[in-house]
Order: sequence, then C-alpha cells, then structure tokens
Amino acid sequence: MHEKVYERVMESAEAVQKLGGARPRVGLVLGSGLGAFAEGLQEAISVDYGELPHFPVSAVAGHAGRLVLGKARGVPVVVMAGRVHGYEGWTVDELAHGVRVMAAMGIQALVLTNAAGGIHPDLKPGDLMRITDHINLSGRSPLTGPNDERLGPRFPDMSTSYDPAYSDLLESVAAEGKLALRRGVYACMPGPAYETPAEIRMLRSMGADAVGMSTAPEVLAARHMGVRCVGISVITNLAAGIATNPLSHAEVKEVADRVKDRFVDLLERYVPALDEVLEPKA
Ligand code: HPA
Repeated sequence: MHEKVYERVMESAEAVQKLGGARPRVGLVLGSGLGAFAEGLQEAISVDYGELPHFPVSAVAGHAGRLVLGKARGVPVVVMAGRVHGYEGWTVDELAHGVRVMAAMGIQALVLTNAAGGIHPDLKPGDLMRITDHINLSGRSPLTGPNDERLGPRFPDMSTSYDPAYSDLLESVAAEGKLALRRGVYACMPGPAYETPAEIRMLRSMGADAVGMSTAPEVLAARHMGVRCVGISVITNLAAGIATNPLSHAEVKEVADRVKDRFVDLLERYVPALDEVLEPKA
C-alpha cells in the first residue's frame, strides 16, 4: 500500500460527500455492461471519475466510469458504474480506490457485480450467480506493502468474505421475485486475454465455478476495512474450451445487455431488503 493511500481515499470521500445527497448505506459496483441499475436511481447525482480527485479512469469500452449517488427504492446508495481492471496496468491501490472511498463514506454493505465465464457445467449464458467465495489468481492484492492501520489490520480474516447473512437474504429476495439465482465460487484471473482451455480445466479442478478479471482485489480492500460484501456474477459466456466458439468482448456485452432487466430487478428488490437488516439510521 502506498503511504499516501489513506489521505487520497479521504480526499476523494470528501469530494464525493460535497456533491450532496444523503449518506449512502449501501455501495454497489456495477460490472461490464451492467450500468443500467444506476440509471433507475432517484435523486441521482452523477459524476465522471475523471472529475473526482485520485479516481482512475478506465479506457475500456463498456466500462463507463462514473460515480452515482442516489436512492434505490428510497435507500441512499453510492454506485460505481464501471471499474478499472488490473490488466490495464493500474496499481493495486488504484484498483481498490473506489471501494475504499465508499467504505470511508460509511457504507454498511458492498454489492459487487461482474460479468463472468461459466465453468460449472450447470451454468449457462444469462444466468445470475451469487458468489459464495473467490479464488484470487490475479497475482495481486491491494494489501501488499506496508499496512496502514487506519484502514484495517495487517492480516484480515477472509473466511466470511461474502457475508453469509446478506447472501442468504439475496437468495430469499431472488426466490420471492422468481428470479433464478445460481451460486458458485468465482476465480479472478489477471486477463486481459480470456483463459486457455487448460487454464479452465485447472480452475475447475480447483473448485471454481465461474471466472472473471475483477472483484477479488475489491473484496480484499473492503474486508480489510471491515465492510461486509455480497457478490453477483452475470454469466455472459461459457468459459474457454467448454464453448466451441471463440470468446469475445462483444458476446460478453451482448449477454450482459440481455440480462439487464432481471439483474436490475434483483438489485432493486435486494437493496431495500438489505437496508432493513443494516444498523438503524443515525
Ligand atoms: N473469462 C474471464 N473473464 C470473463 C469471462 C471469461 O470467460 N467472461 C466475462 N468475463
């Protein structure tokens, strides 16, 4: 961790708070092509990452980068619509920056979403999958380097990283809304190339059900700061070697777009249910 991380996070958090709006209770990170949820927020205040101090700005198509403050069915939220990925060459602190800022703003729950390739034979494109746990094979952690105790402990526990109570709640909300929700382990690979078929066989034998290129570093940063996390993958394609066709970013975006309504429906049902179980409003 860079020595100035804490100061940078606080400066960003202050800049975001100056935009106005209620203090957010829930933070969300919307993955590739999944920005639609932010468009439905009430009383929305939206700002491009480029206008905020210290925020990294992605150059990847489909990763629109803006922070949105607003209300989801009355619940104050802060949303990262788009994220940066390690494969673009960002430092680990840049990868974690947005999540750290949301944590510094006092969110009590963080919902991380992503597009992922399905490895488990039961998963198919268009499925929504609750992340039960992750395997971080990105080779990176935002906690590498000197630790800043103001952010969190040197050796954070990761045994309940995807919060069991909040995850159970996601499952019941999905069931109530008749929205099919799979569950599985997410493997984070470095990218940017999609995996080889041999890598996918390796991941399968390790116990991974889906694969992507994000989320794990963010969860490390959030858990370090004591924020409880929930993860949702949108399965956009069958992983390499399972599919017979070549993988493409266009396919990933197209399937994410097709799933959009169900995905937004799930989040709009989930956020108010989650709000009920958070600490009472100050
Ligand atoms: N592999 C890695 N990342 C991904 C995939 C995949 O198959 N699909 C969407 N993101």
